[in-house]
Amino acid sequence: MALRNLVIEGDPLLRKTSRPVDEISPRIIKLLDDMADTMYFEGRGIGIAAPQVGVLRRVFVVDVGDEHGLIEFINPEILEVSGSQTDNEGCLSVPGKTCEVERPQHVKIKALNRDGEEFILEADDLLARCICHENDHLNGILFIDKSVDGKIYSTDSDED
Ligand code: NI
Repeated sequence: MALRNLVIEGDPLLRKTSRPVDEISPRIIKLLDDMADTMYFEGRGIGIAAPQVGVLRRVFVVDVGDEHGLIEFINPEILEVSGSQTDNEGCLSVPGKTCEVERPQHVKIKALNRDGEEFILEADDLLARCICHENDHLNGILFIDKSVDGKIYSTDSDED
């Protein structure tokens, strides 16, 4: 198990656009493993994107606690979105803050797995929300940019 340091809001790395992975090298496999370890260690995390550990590559992992378990996405591409849902979000890189964000209810996404195989996933509800949130990280977008009412709320740290 290896944990990586989290990049926190205010660091310009979080505002950069990440580059595609051109080869799924041992470094990328290690990155995927370390990202999952870091997400689970932090407890509240249901997703983490590579820029959050300082790597500007188009990679993220999610585990919303459903039957999918851990899902790894390399070079993801959202193919379709539909519907709408609005709920509170948080982010490991934006500790102590939350706001309401509107997301698609349904997403269809294409990506590579760690074996370099392309897969297509259709997701709804929390998984769709999480995928959109993590995909935004690859484009330098944070959830606080998308507050539906323009307000950002403080949370008691580490509630839940
Ligand atoms: Ni986040």
